[in-house]
Amino acid sequence: MQHRLRDTQILGTDDASIGRAAGILRAGGLVSFPTETVYGLGADATNGEAVAGIYSAKQRPAFNPLISHLPSLEQALVQGNFDDRAKQLAAAFWPGPLTLVVPVSAECSVSDLARAGLDTVALRVPDHPVAQSLLSAAGRPVAAPSANLSGTVSPTCAAHVLEGLGGRIDAIVDAGPCSVGVESTIVACMGGRPRILRPGGVAREDIERVVGAIGESSHAAGSLLAPGMLASHYAPRAAMRLAASVVQSGEAVLDFSGQLSSGSAVAYLDLSPDGDLAHAAANLFAFMRKLDASGAAQIAVAPIPRNGLGEAINDRLSRAAADR
Ligand code: TXA
Ligand code: MG
Repeated sequence: MQHRLRDTQILGTDDASIGRAAGILRAGGLVSFPTETVYGLGADATNGEAVAGIYSAKQRPAFNPLISHLPSLEQALVQGNFDDRAKQLAAAFWPGPLTLVVPVSAECSVSDLARAGLDTVALRVPDHPVAQSLLSAAGRPVAAPSANLSGTVSPTCAAHVLEGLGGRIDAIVDAGPCSVGVESTIVACMGGRPRILRPGGVAREDIERVVGAIGESSHAAGSLLAPGMLASHYAPRAAMRLAASVVQSGEAVLDFSGQLSSGSAVAYLDLSPDGDLAHAAANLFAFMRKLDASGAAQIAVAPIPRNGLGEAINDRLSRAAADR
């Protein structure tokens, strides 16, 4: 698909800039904005043509449905049919790094294209003051995947967005680095027991504390429930070698809690010398980019615990390591 090139404005977070960004969205343009998870690439979710611009800017396969962002729980409730457990999860974690997939409501204004023709809709109320002001000013659901070219590492600061999408989108609202650093946890609430479709910024343990035991994650490539969950995703150029216990020659090292030695490494970064999984999640994508930029052919990654945010971190790492 041919994509129209344009000047990409870098906007601040003052009222005038937010007003300008909202105006671009309402006019059908493409604006990257910060959330606490990653930077999103936003378009008016109710405008199919605007949403088509997201797919072409990202070079994303068009069968992949998008998350629609709302500034408040009340506004999200209008778009979908929430069962009791969906309501409990929304009350517990919104605003926050949680996306709920629910059946569309009769009033749902999200375009068919943003839902990829499904009769369900993915909704999220982000916990970021700048995202909330922008969404309020836009006055409609804003569809937004992560603001990167399809298949590359998600952006956690404005410079990452510019690197991948500069010249392809209308504006970037720069509010500094994202605090969570991995995408939202996606939970499907379709009447039965809720299911995690993608691990993310809310830990499974915290979700189970609210709604009890939940269904297994669906990691399978091509799964009908989460059509966007391609096995190879979040990929750096370098090969990734997971659960490394020693460093091989020529490798860059992505360590956790000082398990690997920096001695012979081409480049070395520790996601969290203190072993803090939240810090590790916040650093993950930026560190993958930095190690990739070292030019090393392979990145050795230390084992990372699987509890809490470790589930999302391990999920992203195994996608980055998958055959492409
Ligand atoms: O943190 C995040 O979730 C970021 C920020 C910008 O909100 N967004 C994000 O979006 O990661 P994206 O497009 O990269 O991932 C959305 C995922 C895809 O895997 C897609 O298949 C799934 O959500 N999804 C969207 N709508 C769905 C639906 N109706 N049913 C099942 N899966 C859906
Ligand atoms: Mg993405």
